[in-house]
Amino acid sequence: MLKVKDVIAAIKNAAPSPEVSVVKLPFSDTPKEIPSCDVLHFGDPENEVHKIGTTFMVTMDVIQKAQAQGIDMIITHEPSNCGGLDFTMPLPLNRITEAKRDLIEKSGINIWRFHDGMHYQKPDLIYMGWMKELGWENYVVPGPNCHEFRIPETDVKSIVELLKERLHIRVPRVIGDPDLKVSKVGVLVGGGGQGLGNPNMPMEFLLDHDLDLLILGDITELIMCAFWKDALALGLQKAAIVIGHHKSEECGMKYLAEWLASLLPDIPVTFLESEDCFNFL
Ligand SMILES: [Fe+2]
Ligand SMILES: [Fe+2]
Repeated sequence: MLKVKDVIAAIKNAAPSPEVSVVKLPFSDTPKEIPSCDVLHFGDPENEVHKIGTTFMVTMDVIQKAQAQGIDMIITHEPSNCGGLDFTMPLPLNRITEAKRDLIEKSGINIWRFHDGMHYQKPDLIYMGWMKELGWENYVVPGPNCHEFRIPETDVKSIVELLKERLHIRVPRVIGDPDLKVSKVGVLVGGGGQGLGNPNMPMEFLLDHDLDLLILGDITELIMCAFWKDALALGLQKAAIVIGHHKSEECGMKYLAEWLASLLPDIPVTFLESEDCFNFL
């Protein structure tokens, strides 16, 4: 029977990434060493694993689904706690996070985060899921990343419908003309929509690559909306669709379940989807 440490070792062997990265943070000239966030949050490396679940983030609904399905190891892309932090870090807990920690500990579910390693791969495993879910594998522009696509010409509202259907997003937000014809599409999932340290990066990407459309995960509204209002007022024939962090990256974890099933054929792997947080009235 495989143990938690065997599952992690098999994944790290198939998708290696640095244990420590040297990163230059915004507004600082001094590079900083950042350890990988791909660590075990709950459980024990020696625990046996009978069934694996992959998910975008370990929220309560995901834990309950995992318990109901007999899953004893969850692989999560984002932190196990709220606030962008993991339970492995020293952090103030409130009564919600304390209750959640207690429930996870009582459940006995092992939780390992797989974030940095997914994004380190070429192609990025999250973008692999994105391409597969949308059927855009043949439209990707060759390059170091999978952020740019040349799709058959369509309009913005047709892409909105595609995103709603395939990614289960309730209401994507649209900037620009829904009838605009588009072919050159840029995609920045998750925090990529906020520029990953350079808030102007999404706009530079749009303009430098002469894209028709940007599809974005998270955005920084103060910066992004000012740009778009000015750009549209000045006659820019471009558009953006904002789909949020969760639903822009979740398809990568669906893909990971398939990837793992071929890597570890003797153990069942299932994808744990989580409902969009927002209601729109
Ligand atoms: Fe993310
Ligand atoms: Fe991510």
